[in-house]
Order: sequence, then structure tokens, then C-alpha cells
Amino acid sequence: MHATQLTPGLTKTGVFAELRQQLEGLVQGESDALPNCANAAALIYHSLPDLNWAGFYFLRHGELVLGPFQGKAACVRIGLGQGVCGTAAQRREVLIVPDVQAFPGHIACDAASRSEIVIPMLQSGRLLGVLDIDSPVPDRFDRDDAQGLDALLSVVLEASDFGGLAIP
Ligand code: SME
Repeated sequence: MHATQLTPGLTKTGVFAELRQQLEGLVQGESDALPNCANAAALIYHSLPDLNWAGFYFLRHGELVLGPFQGKAACVRIGLGQGVCGTAAQRREVLIVPDVQAFPGHIACDAASRSEIVIPMLQSGRLLGVLDIDSPVPDRFDRDDAQGLDALLSVVLEASDFGGLAIP
């Protein structure tokens, strides 16, 4: 098992820098997107505070389909434009939702969720899916989280072949 311990007392930027290094180690020499996404979800979920879900949805035949995640069982298919995930995917932009109950169409997989961040995965302009993270704490995510998570996604995207997983 890989250790996912972080140096105590780090700033948020420092945490993401360490996580990036750890993720680079986890994906090194592996180009299969499935295990790389699985390890990224586990690393994020077990390293960042106040999360109740972290995982991936892949674009498959025009809809988002549940991929590797940590947290409670989640809805399997999300249409483009539906919920926070489908909206972020359709717009191809990061969505930070400070209060999920105030987001029209939010899909509640875990009733404990209060805030959410969704980051689209793009490779050479092609939409592959989204990284979705939920928190039981309101207003949990900010631009620093978006930037840090985007950098983690870049590690996975640069290392991985999504050929069989993401099917437009
Ligand atoms: N809340 C998401 C659905 C996915 S779960 O949070 C894991 C949404 O509204 O798209």
C-alpha cells in the first residue's frame, strides 16, 4: 500500500504541491486511465479535509457515466446539462457550488453533501468527463482548490490513455 501522508502544517498550496508529487509517483509508468483515476480519487479523498465524495464521471456515448470514486454509492448516469456535473461538462468550465441546495437541478447522491466542485477533464480539446468532489461543509471549495485539483487532473491526463473509457 502506498502511504498518502502529508507533512503537517502545510498551507493549502503546499498540500496540493505534495499531493501532486504523490500522484506523479502513483501514475508513473502506468498509462491505463482506469487505475490512474482510481488512485487519484483515493488520494484526494483520503488527503483533503471535509470531503464525503471524490470521484470521476466519464463521457460515454453522450452522457456521464460513473467511474472510480470514494464515498457512498452514487447515481450512475448523468446527462449533459443535468446537475452540477452535467452543467460543468456541457459548459466545459469549473463549477464551484457553495450551497448545493441553491443549485437548480443539483443531483443529491448523498444527503450529507452541502457544497461541491466539478472540474471538466479535457485532453487536446476533447471532453473526457469530470472530476467531482463533494463536502458536508457549506462553502468548502475556493479558487485555490480549483487550481490545485486542476493540477492533479493534469498529472492523470498527461499520464493516461482514456481511449476505452471515454467514448464521445
Ligand atoms: N451532485 C452531482 C451528482 C453526483 S454526486 O454528487 C456524486 C450533480 O449534481 O451533478
